[in-house]
Amino acid sequence: MKIIRVKDYQAMSEAAAKIISEAVRENPQINLGLATGGSPVKMYKLLVADHQANKTVYKDVKSFNLDEYLGLPQGHPQTYHTFMHENLFNHIDIKEENIFVPDGDTKDPKATAAQYEELLEKNQIDLQLLGIGTNGHIGFNEPGSSFQGKTAVVDLTPETITANARYFEGNQDLVPTEAISMGIGSIMRAKKILLIASGANKAKVIKGLVEGAITESLPASVLQNHPDVTLVIDEAAASLLSK
Ligand code: PGA
Repeated sequence: MKIIRVKDYQAMSEAAAKIISEAVRENPQINLGLATGGSPVKMYKLLVADHQANKTVYKDVKSFNLDEYLGLPQGHPQTYHTFMHENLFNHIDIKEENIFVPDGDTKDPKATAAQYEELLEKNQIDLQLLGIGTNGHIGFNEPGSSFQGKTAVVDLTPETITANARYFEGNQDLVPTEAISMGIGSIMRAKKILLIASGANKAKVIKGLVEGAITESLPASVLQNHPDVTLVIDEAAASLLSK
């Protein structure tokens, strides 16, 4: 596992944007696995700035998002579909038909999850971006999720619902309780994984991810088994690492 330690959120965003934009320039047909949340927001801004300044081309890039809430109507401001368009897709030249986010407004969530998994089996992800939850989740694979898991309908834990209430007027009752998420097995098929984390509230799980046991109770610890993982973490997130 390669660990890049940087000063703060800004530096984390810059380092991660550099890795992604260089990968896109190197392989204009790259399959990107993308993530939502607070961690990548600045990084996406920098990718947009890079697209404008350096003309990095996304017209043949395909993107596959990790997850989507179940039960929010299409166009709801808090869907990950909306998040991705507002933060990135509306500002670069990616084609709409090359954008894949699980459909959280589906009538048949199980079938939708199975179709998404099939799509991932046909399109190997070259570079998968991940954030990490304060409980160690990757995607919405909460503690206890199988390391073999495929894309599935998942329940959000109370900790995740509390963490995400900030996007729902601070009201936990408005946060969906289920999502469709790539499974850990799906994530692990990516050729390369880039995980970003910033802030003291991530220090404990980063220590577990890097130095702890590989255990389904800390989903991100599975990354110790992947051959090509890069962590970009800031000083606060790295603060409990022993070296
Ligand atoms: P965050 O979420 O980037 O908003 O901290 C990360 C996650 O829950 O995976």
